[in-house]
Amino acid sequence: MSNVKHIPSPVPGQATAVACSNIAFIKYWGNRDHRLRLPASGSLSMNLDSLTTRTVVRFDPALEHDELILNGEPAAEAARQRVSAFLTRVRQLAGISLAARVESANNFPMGAGIASSASAFAALSLAASAAAGLRLTERDLSRLARRGSGSACRSIPGGFVEWQAGENDADSYAFSIAPAEHWELSDCVAIVSRAHKTTGSSAGHPLADSSPLHAARLAQVNENLRRCRQAILERDFDALAAVTETDCHLMHAVMMTSSPPLIYWQPGTLTVMHAVQQWRRQGLPVCYTMDAGPNVHVICEVGAESQVVARLRELPNVLDVLVAHPGGPARLAR
Ligand code: DP6
Repeated sequence: MSNVKHIPSPVPGQATAVACSNIAFIKYWGNRDHRLRLPASGSLSMNLDSLTTRTVVRFDPALEHDELILNGEPAAEAARQRVSAFLTRVRQLAGISLAARVESANNFPMGAGIASSASAFAALSLAASAAAGLRLTERDLSRLARRGSGSACRSIPGGFVEWQAGENDADSYAFSIAPAEHWELSDCVAIVSRAHKTTGSSAGHPLADSSPLHAARLAQVNENLRRCRQAILERDFDALAAVTETDCHLMHAVMMTSSPPLIYWQPGTLTVMHAVQQWRRQGLPVCYTMDAGPNVHVICEVGAESQVVARLRELPNVLDVLVAHPGGPARLAR
């Protein structure tokens, strides 16, 4: 049942884990239960192999409170508190009370506007639970990661991953629908702004209910999930492109029509959107999707990758392009 490989920790009370970020084709936006992070709908994503977080957790009797080091620097207090609240959940599960030191580093540039909470909480779930002596199944790890950041539950299993909304805490978790090797896709992330976004996704989810379009998106999300799942299983790029862009537009329509409105797009976002649509009309297998930020994930078949990257780099407002391929599950490391 579990793909999680448990390796004995060389240091008692300490463990290291690595997890990939992911990009959703069908998005998670809005919650039915904010405290439990039970989503308004299911979602479907692909892990990103070259965008990873590596996290070391050490429960230490000498510590008075939890410490968080992010990319070599002490983290801001809000981030430390979010991690500390999550560690308390792990301590409750393990029946321990020790404080922990958490050192976490991303291998992708900070401030590039690439979401890091998915890879961060997936790596933290695995490292913290292993350091606390827990041996969780993949399902229970995914449920645990969900409590830290919703999208993190999709970075526990490998490859192409579906998060079933579920009815309650026990059945809201993610599972792999196909391994990373199933389909050679590329995610060419066009960085169009490095500015820090003003409303992060945690603050954005509660606003979904205020949009009159939220119910309309939810009314068709199960059909879009079905289409997306089928497109992936059949490696049908045209079908994947159609459903991915539709759900991206629907989610951003919800964001833009909530109170207050969330407008994440920048001029460069639209430049890339129009260019990608034109390239597809010319026959390139390529489509786009955006998360709660301005940068554009340009998805293509791997055979088109070099052309897509070269074309993206020529566009005005594109500052950089990061490339990732389907990635594996969260794993323990030394
Ligand atoms: C737009 O998982 O970042 O990227 O649970 O509050 O941490 P929290 O939210 P988060 O939301 C992700 C939103 C999204 C869409 C997606 O990845 O599915």
